[in-house]
Amino acid sequence: MATELPTTDIRIGAELIRRRKGGIPLVCLTAYTYPVARLLDPHVDLLLVGDSVAMVLHGHETTLGASLEMMIAHGQAVMRGSARACVVIDMPAGSYEDSAVQAVASARRIVEETGCQAVKLEGGVDMARQIAAIVATGIPVMGHIGLLPQSVEKEGGYKIKGRTDEAIAALLADALAVERAGAFSVVIEGTIEAVAADITRRIAIPTIGIGASPDCDGQILVIDDMVGLTVDRVPKFVKEYADLRSVIAHAAERYAAEVRDRTFPGPAHVFWGSTAFSGTNGGDEA
Ligand code: KIV
Repeated sequence: MATELPTTDIRIGAELIRRRKGGIPLVCLTAYTYPVARLLDPHVDLLLVGDSVAMVLHGHETTLGASLEMMIAHGQAVMRGSARACVVIDMPAGSYEDSAVQAVASARRIVEETGCQAVKLEGGVDMARQIAAIVATGIPVMGHIGLLPQSVEKEGGYKIKGRTDEAIAALLADALAVERAGAFSVVIEGTIEAVAADITRRIAIPTIGIGASPDCDGQILVIDDMVGLTVDRVPKFVKEYADLRSVIAHAAERYAAEVRDRTFPGPAHVFWGSTAFSGTNGGDEA
């Protein structure tokens, strides 16, 4: 099992991700913490410090609970835990929508305080100015179109996109606007499958699908969903590759029983006096 930081200092940059268009699918996952970043880094091309952190780790109802400070703190942890993956940090709601000047200031702060490879923001035609302004400063931007979690309150829920001709045309316009603005890749979330596949064929930057299409140039899932740790609503598009809910609940149940019947801590988990020194159990170090 690869749990150690790789010795290579070659970090995948945004340009390398862009060049993977049409190639071997890009493997992307969210990560929010140091240990999880260490575990995922050898296996993925890209780690997204998503604003989903506000829901997944902080228990907020929506991603609107994320702040710039929250994203930077989690971004720093993920950068410490990864050596290889391209790390992208989400720009939280309220940090970029007002103007290109606001977007550039926030993106600069994220990159300067974390050292991440790129930022991501939500929106298509309506956010093209912000994307272009950030890209002009040399900071790579990942777009995000389709179902936009930062807009679910406004839209009255998680609604699948691309069901009508008008909606399909709007999605394509968003994809083209993000591409023209200079984004190096774009997340397509929660769309009709054929629409995401069609957009993937029509634009020259990689599409990263989530609830989208197997034809996208890459896939992304929220890490807690993927390992079966999500305790509330698990979206239909998620495949759980593990059942960590059961693993944790079972471990907590066994621990509770052993504390109550005093079988934990056992002889191997306490420190003995010097006369009882016995190598691993008896040293000064924990
Ligand atoms: O915040 C997030 O986790 C995301 C992914 C769902 C793409 O934006």
